[in-house]
Amino acid sequence: FLTMVLPMSLLTQNVLKKAVAKAALDYVLNKVSSDSIIGIGTGSTTNFFINLLGPHKNKFKGAVASSLASANKLESYGIEILDLNSVHEIEIYVDGADEVNQTLELIKGGGGALTREKITAAVASEFLCMVDDTKLVTSLGQFPLPIEVIPMARSYVARKILEIGGDPVYRQGYVTDNGNNILDIHHLYPIKSAREIEEKINHIAGVVANGIFSIRHADVVLIGTTDGIKTIKPN
Ligand code: 5RP
Repeated sequence: FLTMVLPMSLLTQNVLKKAVAKAALDYVLNKVSSDSIIGIGTGSTTNFFINLLGPHKNKFKGAVASSLASANKLESYGIEILDLNSVHEIEIYVDGADEVNQTLELIKGGGGALTREKITAAVASEFLCMVDDTKLVTSLGQFPLPIEVIPMARSYVARKILEIGGDPVYRQGYVTDNGNNILDIHHLYPIKSAREIEEKINHIAGVVANGIFSIRHADVVLIGTTDGIKTIKPN
């Protein structure tokens, strides 16, 4: 027999992702009522969350999804998907992250869905982020920062990124749900002011969004660790 052998660390990470997704589910179910709309992020941690949320679909009205992939998965559980333009309030937005610091700033976009994630998080009254403890950092920037760019602006944006000390790598063969390209920016570590870098990159013509979530950071971060679930909240 051919057996798939997964590295132990990946197995542990998935166990922690599932555990934190369960803690996020408990948090969300405590908040929502039958007319609540939940914002749903993208990625493997979010997929664990959706699997757990599915059986509770009657406890809330529906969901706004940050990607076509998450929308399809939610629909497979019979959860109603709402267009953000028809929604005034998202009670809570739930998503993973690639890096989280102690002040609840994030890097997101490893899965390429950062723009819709940023929009959904901006609308939401509360942003609940769920991660395993490999994502917790003292300074952001070791994870290459994804930025979504309009295709015709890709080279121009890459030149501007070099000027601020980053090293842009084109995510070959990947097209976002919005029809755009992704540049992954290496060598920004350590990012001293996440907000300053977020604003600086936002001002480059042709950038749709960048993966720093500082202006709209998380409100609560749940962290799955081998010692149980830890929580970071602002003081
Ligand atoms: C997708 C994201 C994800 O939240 C991030 O990449 C974390 O993913 P995972 O839960 O698979 O580790 O920002 O754009």
